[in-house]
Amino acid sequence: MKRTEIKDALQSENFEQEMNVKGWVRTKRSSKNVAFVALNDGSTIHNLQLVIDLDKIPETDLALMHTGASVSANGFLVSSAGSGQRVELSVSSIQLLGEANPDEYPLQPKKHSLEFLREKAHLRFRTNTFGAITRIRHAMIFAIHKFFNDKGYYNIHTPIITSSDAEGAGEMFQVTTLDLEKLPMNEENKIDFKQDFFGKASNLTVSGQLEAELAALALSKVYTFGPTFRAENSNTSRHLAEFWMIEPEVAFFDINDDMDLAEEMLKYLIQYALENCSDDLTFLSKRLEEEEKNKKADEKSMELISKLNFVLENSFERISYTEAVDILKNSNHNKKGKFQYPIEKWGADLQSEHERYLVEKHFKKPVILTNYPKEIKAFYMKQNEDGTTVRAMDVLFPGIGEIIGGSQREENYSKLLNRMEEMHIPVESMWWYLETRKFGSVPHAGFGLGFERLMLFVTGMGNIRDVIPFPRTPLNCEF
Ligand code: 4AD
Ligand code: MG
Repeated sequence: MKRTEIKDALQSENFEQEMNVKGWVRTKRSSKNVAFVALNDGSTIHNLQLVIDLDKIPETDLALMHTGASVSANGFLVSSAGSGQRVELSVSSIQLLGEANPDEYPLQPKKHSLEFLREKAHLRFRTNTFGAITRIRHAMIFAIHKFFNDKGYYNIHTPIITSSDAEGAGEMFQVTTLDLEKLPMNEENKIDFKQDFFGKASNLTVSGQLEAELAALALSKVYTFGPTFRAENSNTSRHLAEFWMIEPEVAFFDINDDMDLAEEMLKYLIQYALENCSDDLTFLSKRLEEEEKNKKADEKSMELISKLNFVLENSFERISYTEAVDILKNSNHNKKGKFQYPIEKWGADLQSEHERYLVEKHFKKPVILTNYPKEIKAFYMKQNEDGTTVRAMDVLFPGIGEIIGGSQREENYSKLLNRMEEMHIPVESMWWYLETRKFGSVPHAGFGLGFERLMLFVTGMGNIRDVIPFPRTPLNCEF
């Protein structure tokens, strides 16, 4: 018999034909004559209740069907008398596929902490929370491609191994095949990378932007969506060493077009989640409420689905870095010394606490900050006339801080070259990037959306390690 997925079974009106379902046991309980098994196959957050008549199927056959065991069951769909489900499966035969010894199986039908589940990342997919997150993650990946495809953008694969540092921040993981026990040295007594696999030093990419720019200067509208790697030693709930980034790059766009695209895209993705992931979002919303029960009223976050709708319904506040610093500097929060990093003067890099203050306390909606001091931003950003700021834009979200970082790019050859030299960016090895400013250069802009930061927002989860299946963070590379 062909397997029916539980998602379809739960919506089926077919009460006449026998059907087969397969999945993993979530819970089992027995009374004198019947046993109930809640079965889940990942197609939906909801379980199908199997009703097993112990007169027909002896308890001994059920004995091994503990939480976590896999089973295949045939039966007829019947209207359910119990509350909580429309239909259930009246089982005619059931077979154990794989057992899960309850003395060893770590996931029991009780609440496990997220920390505990991180150590069981190979099994945590089987919990309601991670099933929901995984389905939403898929929906968001699909929606991102759909958004760009519908607008006529081309997806390009940018390299994962590169020899450049796209952000110039020196946070790269080195890639090498050199024997680390016997490193070859050159005449200057430095490591001789000429003998390395690529004949030069190489690393994992921190961003696909530079290569995306090359493509945008021919195809006009492109985007990359790939893994990026950063060896920054930030042990926070918002940083990963391996994360996924969406980077559109558009010829003939200025910074305002860039902000419009960012806002449109974020709203599109949130709308898509609301329309396509409602069961999983409802579950996560209840989970969050439960989690926050013991928090004080003013520390509680907005209910998840209301929060998503709130972002859809409000336009993002757009202000300059200078205005933001004024607000922060004059805030009571700053005056009372409540920031860990007090804001004293223009030019300070903004920390996540400042970004969140602006979003959560001051404007109470997403904020886009523009025109940052050039000293705290990357070399490729377009320099403003004032000589001190660049046309950068960061999108700040409640609970997250920076979710998008982007900019208009410097398209003027000599200005770009000067800035690269000032910032000690290796100009010779970036000749190809500079050449695009020599041949048919045009204004262009783009941004990077951190996919897991988006996932944090959409799922309401508090730690970035819980919205990617296998997080990579300092001292953590299990699985
Ligand atoms: O602001 P970032 O560093 O910008 C860039 O890499 C540009 N090249 C993007 C562009 O203009 N094409 O990173 C972009 C976004 C951040 O806003 C944040 O959401 C996310 O990537 N991000 C991280 N997410 C998780 N873990 C980390 N360590 C992250 N670093 C950045
Ligand atoms: Mg940034």
